[in-house]
Amino acid sequence: MMIVTTFDELRTALPLLEGRLGFVPTMGCLHEGHISLARRARVECDCVAVSIFVNPVQFGPHEDLSKYPRDLERDLHLLEDAGVDLVWTPTPEIMYPAGFQTWVEVEQMTRPLEGAQRPGHFRGVTTVVAKLFNAVQPAKAYFGQKDAQQAAVIRQMTRDLNFPIEIVVCPTVREPDGLAMSSRNVYLDADQRKAAAVLYRSLSAAKAAYEQGERDAERLRTLMKTVLASEPLAQMQYVSCADYDTLQELEQVSGKTLLSMAVFIGKTRLIDNFVLG
Ligand code: PAF
Repeated sequence: MMIVTTFDELRTALPLLEGRLGFVPTMGCLHEGHISLARRARVECDCVAVSIFVNPVQFGPHEDLSKYPRDLERDLHLLEDAGVDLVWTPTPEIMYPAGFQTWVEVEQMTRPLEGAQRPGHFRGVTTVVAKLFNAVQPAKAYFGQKDAQQAAVIRQMTRDLNFPIEIVVCPTVREPDGLAMSSRNVYLDADQRKAAAVLYRSLSAAKAAYEQGERDAERLRTLMKTVLASEPLAQMQYVSCADYDTLQELEQVSGKTLLSMAVFIGKTRLIDNFVLG
């Protein structure tokens, strides 16, 4: 497995990878969710590249950039075991040298949900992903369904900027009690970890109601809120029942629909979602 840091090193390494290249952008502290993306790329492509970069510009001023978990050595072992060919680990100075002033921004779709709670977050995500795509030029790029809005925004950016890249969105990988795998789960203490399964229970309750015929979006949102309220350690930030493509809140559920939520468990902010229809 080749490991590179600078753009020059990356440019030297990429021609050594022959055939269709699959790419998995990450912020490191890898878990089974990330590894499932690398494995899928391994199956679908001839070569696999992964980036590890904790992207400072997608964190808000009060978010956890300095505390964001990092464990490069462990990440590299996991990626080697998953059969990855190339790992790119740029630094903030390499990605954003002094004088950097070009941003990539997707408009409407970044305003609701995560965008409403985390101003500037998606501008940071789309800017870094555009830079990563430009540098790596993969045939396919892999993202997790857990960050549903991020996946939708990146699909839109890829279309709008004519990147010749297929965006592949892979299913959320869950712990046995349903908690979606996330690098931020390491912040939870034992009680909080138990409480965190409430997100899955809440989404499952709404999905069960939908499967029994409920199509009133407000009733589905209320049901999710009621389950979340039953867990004293959970502090809801938002719940949503929105159109899957536009991310606009619905009154009636008809086509493909995204149930999603952001919930604080202590100081840790967790997100999760289910797709209906
Ligand atoms: O999902 C992530 O880990 C990040 O948002 C991404 C896509 C690697 C961009 O920094």
